[in-house]
Amino acid sequence: MVAETTLTPNDLIAPLFVREGIEEPAPIPSMPGVLQHTLASLSAEADRLVSLGVPAIMLFGVPLVKDPAGLGASDPDGIVQAALELLTGNLGEKLLLIADLCLDEYTDHGHCGLLDDRGLVDNDATLERYGEVAVAQARAGAHLVGPSGMMDGQVGAIRKALDDSGFPDVGILAYAAKYASALYGPFRDAVDVQIAGGGDRRGYQQDPANRREAIREVQLDIDEGADIVMVKPALSYLDVIGEVRRRFDVPVAAYHVSGEYSMVKAAAERGWIDGHAVALEQTLAIKRAGADMILTYFAGELAESLGG
Ligand code: PBG
Repeated sequence: MVAETTLTPNDLIAPLFVREGIEEPAPIPSMPGVLQHTLASLSAEADRLVSLGVPAIMLFGVPLVKDPAGLGASDPDGIVQAALELLTGNLGEKLLLIADLCLDEYTDHGHCGLLDDRGLVDNDATLERYGEVAVAQARAGAHLVGPSGMMDGQVGAIRKALDDSGFPDVGILAYAAKYASALYGPFRDAVDVQIAGGGDRRGYQQDPANRREAIREVQLDIDEGADIVMVKPALSYLDVIGEVRRRFDVPVAAYHVSGEYSMVKAAAERGWIDGHAVALEQTLAIKRAGADMILTYFAGELAESLGG
Protein backbone atom coordinates (compact mmCIF):
# COMPACT_ATOMS: atom_id res chain seq x y z
CA MET A 1 0.00 0.00 0.00
CA VAL A 2 2.84 2.39 0.74
CA ALA A 3 5.00 1.40 -2.23
CA GLU A 4 5.82 4.54 -4.19
CA THR A 5 6.68 2.66 -7.34
CA THR A 6 5.10 -0.38 -8.93
CA LEU A 7 6.21 -2.35 -11.92
CA THR A 8 3.70 -4.04 -14.23
CA PRO A 9 3.99 -5.82 -17.59
CA ASN A 10 2.45 -2.68 -19.10
CA ASP A 11 5.70 -0.79 -18.36
CA LEU A 12 7.82 -3.11 -20.47
CA ILE A 13 8.98 -3.12 -24.08
CA ALA A 14 10.66 -6.27 -25.39
CA PRO A 15 13.55 -5.82 -27.84
CA LEU A 16 13.45 -8.68 -30.38
CA PHE A 17 15.87 -9.76 -33.11
CA VAL A 18 14.79 -11.21 -36.43
CA ARG A 19 17.35 -12.71 -38.78
CA GLU A 20 17.05 -13.20 -42.50
CA GLY A 21 17.83 -16.57 -44.05
CA ILE A 22 17.78 -18.92 -41.05
CA GLU A 23 15.53 -21.95 -40.72
CA GLU A 24 15.58 -22.24 -36.93
CA PRO A 25 15.87 -19.58 -34.22
CA ALA A 26 19.53 -19.10 -33.25
CA PRO A 27 20.71 -18.62 -29.65
CA ILE A 28 22.98 -15.63 -28.93
CA PRO A 29 25.81 -17.02 -26.76
CA SER A 30 26.50 -13.75 -24.91
CA MET A 31 22.78 -13.23 -24.17
CA PRO A 32 21.50 -16.47 -22.60
CA GLY A 33 17.79 -16.93 -23.28
CA VAL A 34 17.67 -14.38 -26.14
CA LEU A 35 17.28 -15.59 -29.73
CA GLN A 36 17.76 -14.39 -33.26
CA HIS A 37 14.26 -15.21 -34.48
CA THR A 38 12.97 -16.56 -37.75
CA LEU A 39 9.77 -14.88 -38.95
CA ALA A 40 7.78 -17.82 -37.58
CA SER A 41 9.41 -17.85 -34.13
CA LEU A 42 9.13 -14.04 -33.96
CA SER A 43 5.44 -14.26 -34.58
CA ALA A 44 5.04 -16.90 -31.85
CA GLU A 45 7.06 -14.79 -29.39
CA ALA A 46 4.93 -11.73 -30.21
CA ASP A 47 1.77 -13.75 -29.45
CA ARG A 48 3.28 -14.88 -26.14
CA LEU A 49 4.16 -11.30 -25.15
CA VAL A 50 0.63 -10.13 -25.95
CA SER A 51 -0.80 -12.86 -23.74
CA LEU A 52 1.56 -11.78 -20.94
CA GLY A 53 0.36 -8.18 -21.14
CA VAL A 54 3.53 -6.68 -22.64
CA PRO A 55 2.28 -3.77 -24.77
CA ALA A 56 5.16 -3.20 -27.19
CA ILE A 57 8.21 -4.61 -28.94
CA MET A 58 11.29 -2.97 -30.46
CA LEU A 59 12.34 -4.81 -33.58
CA PHE A 60 15.93 -5.23 -34.82
CA GLY A 61 16.84 -6.90 -38.10
CA VAL A 62 19.87 -8.96 -39.07
CA PRO A 63 20.11 -9.00 -42.88
CA LEU A 64 21.69 -11.68 -45.02
CA VAL A 65 23.84 -9.19 -46.91
CA LYS A 66 25.55 -6.05 -45.62
CA ASP A 67 26.80 -3.22 -47.84
CA PRO A 68 28.26 0.29 -47.42
CA ALA A 69 24.87 2.04 -47.58
CA GLY A 70 22.92 -0.47 -45.49
CA LEU A 71 20.37 -0.95 -48.25
CA GLY A 72 18.57 -3.78 -46.44
CA ALA A 73 17.30 -1.26 -43.91
CA SER A 74 15.00 0.42 -46.42
CA ASP A 75 14.37 -2.47 -48.84
CA PRO A 76 10.59 -3.10 -48.97
CA ASP A 77 11.45 -6.82 -48.82
CA GLY A 78 14.06 -6.35 -46.09
CA ILE A 79 13.79 -8.54 -43.02
CA VAL A 80 12.31 -5.94 -40.67
CA GLN A 81 9.77 -4.85 -43.25
CA ALA A 82 8.77 -8.50 -43.77
CA ALA A 83 8.47 -8.94 -40.01
CA LEU A 84 6.36 -5.80 -39.60
CA GLU A 85 3.98 -6.91 -42.33
CA LEU A 86 3.59 -10.33 -40.77
CA LEU A 87 3.01 -8.97 -37.26
CA THR A 88 0.55 -6.24 -38.27
CA GLY A 89 -1.34 -8.83 -40.29
CA ASN A 90 -1.48 -11.22 -37.32
CA LEU A 91 -1.85 -8.86 -34.39
CA GLY A 92 -3.20 -5.56 -35.70
CA GLU A 93 -3.40 -3.13 -32.82
CA LYS A 94 -2.85 -5.70 -30.08
CA LEU A 95 0.87 -5.02 -29.91
CA LEU A 96 2.63 -1.71 -30.48
CA LEU A 97 5.31 -2.28 -33.10
CA ILE A 98 8.39 -0.11 -32.80
CA ALA A 99 11.09 -0.45 -35.45
CA ASP A 100 14.63 0.40 -34.43
CA LEU A 101 15.83 2.82 -37.09
CA CYS A 102 19.55 2.65 -37.73
CA LEU A 103 22.02 1.47 -40.33
CA ASP A 104 24.66 -0.36 -38.30
CA GLU A 105 22.98 -3.76 -38.54
CA TYR A 106 22.93 -3.34 -42.33
CA THR A 107 26.28 -1.71 -43.14
CA ASP A 108 29.41 -3.74 -43.86
CA HIS A 109 31.51 -1.23 -41.86
CA GLY A 110 29.21 -1.42 -38.82
CA HIS A 111 28.72 2.32 -38.37
CA CYS A 112 25.32 3.87 -37.77
CA GLY A 113 25.71 6.15 -40.79
CA LEU A 114 27.21 6.45 -44.25
CA LEU A 115 30.95 7.01 -44.45
CA ASP A 116 32.64 9.78 -46.43
CA ASP A 117 35.82 9.22 -48.45
CA ARG A 118 37.94 9.69 -45.34
CA GLY A 119 36.04 6.91 -43.60
CA LEU A 120 34.23 9.28 -41.24
CA VAL A 121 30.49 9.21 -40.62
CA ASP A 122 28.75 11.71 -42.89
CA ASN A 123 25.96 13.07 -40.68
CA ASP A 124 23.89 14.88 -43.28
CA ALA A 125 24.07 12.24 -46.01
CA THR A 126 22.92 9.75 -43.36
CA LEU A 127 19.80 11.79 -42.58
CA GLU A 128 18.51 11.18 -46.07
CA ARG A 129 18.96 7.41 -45.63
CA TYR A 130 17.17 7.54 -42.27
CA GLY A 131 14.21 9.21 -44.00
CA GLU A 132 14.07 6.35 -46.52
CA VAL A 133 14.26 3.74 -43.76
CA ALA A 134 11.50 5.45 -41.77
CA VAL A 135 9.17 5.50 -44.75
CA ALA A 136 9.86 1.82 -45.56
CA GLN A 137 9.16 0.85 -41.94
CA ALA A 138 5.98 2.95 -41.80
CA ARG A 139 4.75 1.47 -45.07
CA ALA A 140 5.31 -2.04 -43.65
CA GLY A 141 3.23 -1.25 -40.55
CA ALA A 142 5.50 0.23 -37.86
CA HIS A 143 3.48 2.24 -35.34
CA LEU A 144 6.56 4.03 -34.05
CA VAL A 145 10.10 4.31 -35.38
CA GLY A 146 13.03 4.41 -32.98
CA PRO A 147 16.01 6.28 -34.40
CA SER A 148 19.10 5.03 -32.53
CA GLY A 149 21.98 6.38 -34.64
CA MET A 150 22.54 9.67 -32.76
CA MET A 151 23.00 11.73 -35.92
CA ASP A 152 22.34 15.43 -35.38
CA GLY A 153 18.97 16.42 -36.82
CA GLN A 154 17.72 12.84 -37.22
CA VAL A 155 14.37 13.34 -35.53
CA GLY A 156 13.51 16.39 -37.66
CA ALA A 157 14.58 14.68 -40.88
CA ILE A 158 12.56 11.55 -40.06
CA ARG A 159 9.49 13.53 -39.01
CA LYS A 160 9.58 15.42 -42.30
CA ALA A 161 10.08 12.27 -44.39
CA LEU A 162 7.16 10.54 -42.65
CA ASP A 163 4.86 13.56 -43.01
CA ASP A 164 5.79 14.10 -46.66
CA SER A 165 5.07 10.45 -47.47
CA GLY A 166 1.63 10.35 -45.87
CA PHE A 167 2.54 8.89 -42.47
CA PRO A 168 1.77 11.75 -40.06
CA ASP A 169 0.39 9.23 -37.54
CA VAL A 170 3.60 7.23 -37.20
CA GLY A 171 5.34 8.43 -34.05
CA ILE A 172 8.96 8.73 -33.04
CA LEU A 173 10.55 7.15 -29.99
CA ALA A 174 13.89 8.94 -30.04
CA TYR A 175 17.03 7.43 -28.57
CA ALA A 176 17.74 10.97 -27.37
CA ALA A 177 20.47 10.60 -24.76
CA LYS A 178 22.42 7.57 -25.94
CA TYR A 179 25.85 7.19 -24.43
CA ALA A 180 28.98 5.71 -26.04
CA SER A 181 28.81 2.78 -23.63
CA ALA A 182 30.83 -0.39 -23.16
CA LEU A 183 27.56 -2.13 -22.30
CA TYR A 184 26.46 -2.73 -25.90
CA GLY A 185 28.92 -5.59 -26.52
CA PRO A 186 26.47 -8.51 -26.43
CA PHE A 187 24.03 -6.60 -28.69
CA ARG A 188 26.72 -6.34 -31.33
CA ASP A 189 26.99 -10.15 -31.20
CA ALA A 190 23.21 -10.34 -31.56
CA VAL A 191 23.21 -8.32 -34.77
CA ASP A 192 26.63 -9.46 -36.07
CA VAL A 193 28.14 -6.00 -36.02
CA GLN A 194 31.85 -5.30 -35.88
CA ILE A 195 32.82 -1.67 -36.21
CA ALA A 196 35.41 -1.28 -38.97
CA GLY A 197 39.04 -0.98 -37.92
CA GLY A 198 38.24 -1.57 -34.26
CA GLY A 199 36.50 1.82 -34.28
CA ASP A 200 33.91 3.11 -31.88
CA ARG A 201 30.93 5.43 -31.83
CA ARG A 202 32.34 8.25 -29.71
CA GLY A 203 32.01 10.63 -32.65
CA TYR A 204 28.22 10.50 -32.48
CA GLN A 205 27.20 8.94 -29.17
CA GLN A 206 27.51 10.84 -25.89
CA ASP A 207 30.36 11.08 -23.43
CA PRO A 208 29.48 9.17 -20.23
CA ALA A 209 30.98 12.09 -18.29
CA ASN A 210 28.20 14.46 -19.38
CA ARG A 211 24.74 15.01 -17.95
CA ARG A 212 24.02 18.57 -19.10
CA GLU A 213 24.78 17.53 -22.66
CA ALA A 214 22.06 14.88 -22.36
CA ILE A 215 19.53 17.58 -21.50
CA ARG A 216 20.50 19.53 -24.63
CA GLU A 217 20.16 16.38 -26.75
CA VAL A 218 16.71 15.63 -25.33
CA GLN A 219 15.57 19.22 -25.82
CA LEU A 220 16.67 19.14 -29.47
CA ASP A 221 14.80 15.90 -30.12
CA ILE A 222 11.61 17.22 -28.55
CA ASP A 223 11.89 20.42 -30.58
CA GLU A 224 12.31 18.32 -33.74
CA GLY A 225 9.17 16.29 -33.02
CA ALA A 226 10.05 13.34 -30.78
CA ASP A 227 6.97 11.83 -29.11
CA ILE A 228 8.89 9.77 -26.54
CA VAL A 229 12.49 10.34 -25.47
CA MET A 230 14.84 7.61 -24.33
CA VAL A 231 17.91 7.45 -22.12
CA LYS A 232 20.32 4.57 -22.77
CA PRO A 233 21.83 2.62 -21.03
CA ALA A 234 19.73 2.72 -17.88
CA LEU A 235 21.40 1.69 -14.62
CA SER A 236 24.58 3.71 -14.98
CA TYR A 237 22.50 6.73 -16.02
CA LEU A 238 19.72 6.84 -13.42
CA ASP A 239 20.64 10.44 -12.65
CA VAL A 240 20.09 11.33 -16.30
CA ILE A 241 16.71 9.55 -16.35
CA GLY A 242 15.70 11.46 -13.21
CA GLU A 243 16.76 14.79 -14.64
CA VAL A 244 15.03 14.20 -17.98
CA ARG A 245 11.86 13.20 -16.11
CA ARG A 246 11.91 16.39 -14.02
CA ARG A 247 12.63 18.72 -16.90
CA PHE A 248 10.40 17.49 -19.71
CA ASP A 249 6.74 16.72 -20.01
CA VAL A 250 6.86 13.91 -22.55
CA PRO A 251 6.96 10.16 -21.91
CA VAL A 252 10.44 8.97 -20.93
CA ALA A 253 11.79 5.55 -21.88
CA ALA A 254 14.96 3.87 -20.61
CA TYR A 255 16.87 1.04 -22.28
CA HIS A 256 18.21 -1.64 -19.94
CA VAL A 257 20.77 -2.77 -22.50
CA SER A 258 22.38 -6.02 -23.51
CA GLY A 259 25.40 -5.71 -21.22
CA GLU A 260 23.13 -5.01 -18.26
CA TYR A 261 21.15 -8.15 -19.10
CA SER A 262 24.16 -10.37 -19.69
CA MET A 263 25.91 -9.41 -16.45
CA VAL A 264 22.87 -10.50 -14.46
CA LYS A 265 22.57 -13.75 -16.43
CA ALA A 266 26.27 -14.56 -16.09
CA ALA A 267 26.37 -14.00 -12.34
CA ALA A 268 23.13 -15.95 -11.91
CA GLU A 269 24.52 -18.88 -13.91
CA ARG A 270 27.39 -19.07 -11.43
CA GLY A 271 24.94 -19.05 -8.56
CA TRP A 272 26.35 -15.77 -7.26
CA ILE A 273 23.09 -13.85 -7.37
CA ASP A 274 19.39 -14.59 -7.73
CA GLY A 275 19.04 -13.37 -11.32
CA HIS A 276 15.30 -12.94 -11.33
CA ALA A 277 15.28 -10.97 -8.09
CA VAL A 278 18.06 -8.72 -9.38
CA ALA A 279 16.21 -8.15 -12.66
CA LEU A 280 13.11 -7.10 -10.75
CA GLU A 281 15.09 -4.80 -8.47
CA GLN A 282 16.94 -3.18 -11.37
CA THR A 283 13.86 -2.52 -13.47
CA LEU A 284 11.98 -1.19 -10.45
CA ALA A 285 14.90 1.18 -9.81
CA ILE A 286 14.80 2.39 -13.41
CA LYS A 287 11.10 3.12 -13.03
CA ARG A 288 11.67 4.81 -9.63
CA ALA A 289 14.27 7.05 -11.24
CA GLY A 290 11.57 8.35 -13.60
CA ALA A 291 11.20 6.08 -16.62
CA ASP A 292 7.63 5.56 -17.80
CA MET A 293 8.62 2.55 -19.86
CA ILE A 294 11.59 0.19 -19.90
CA LEU A 295 13.09 -1.69 -22.80
CA THR A 296 14.57 -4.85 -21.37
CA TYR A 297 15.53 -8.33 -22.54
CA PHE A 298 13.91 -9.50 -19.29
CA ALA A 299 10.48 -8.29 -20.50
CA GLY A 300 8.97 -11.74 -21.08
CA GLU A 301 10.46 -13.26 -17.94
CA LEU A 302 9.40 -10.32 -15.76
CA ALA A 303 5.91 -10.19 -17.23
CA GLU A 304 5.50 -13.89 -16.40
CA SER A 305 6.17 -13.28 -12.75
CA LEU A 306 4.41 -9.90 -12.45
CA GLY A 307 1.20 -11.31 -13.87
CA GLY A 308 -0.78 -9.75 -16.70
C1 PBG B 1 22.40 0.81 -32.77
C2 PBG B 1 21.94 0.23 -31.49
C3 PBG B 1 22.72 -0.32 -30.50
C4 PBG B 1 21.86 -0.74 -29.50
C5 PBG B 1 20.57 -0.46 -29.90
N1 PBG B 1 20.63 0.16 -31.14
C6 PBG B 1 24.17 -0.57 -30.45
C7 PBG B 1 25.16 0.49 -30.64
O1 PBG B 1 24.88 1.70 -30.57
O2 PBG B 1 26.29 0.09 -30.90
C8 PBG B 1 22.30 -1.41 -28.23
C9 PBG B 1 21.27 -2.17 -27.50
C10 PBG B 1 21.81 -3.06 -26.43
O3 PBG B 1 23.01 -3.09 -26.11
O4 PBG B 1 20.99 -3.79 -25.89
N2 PBG B 1 21.59 0.43 -33.84
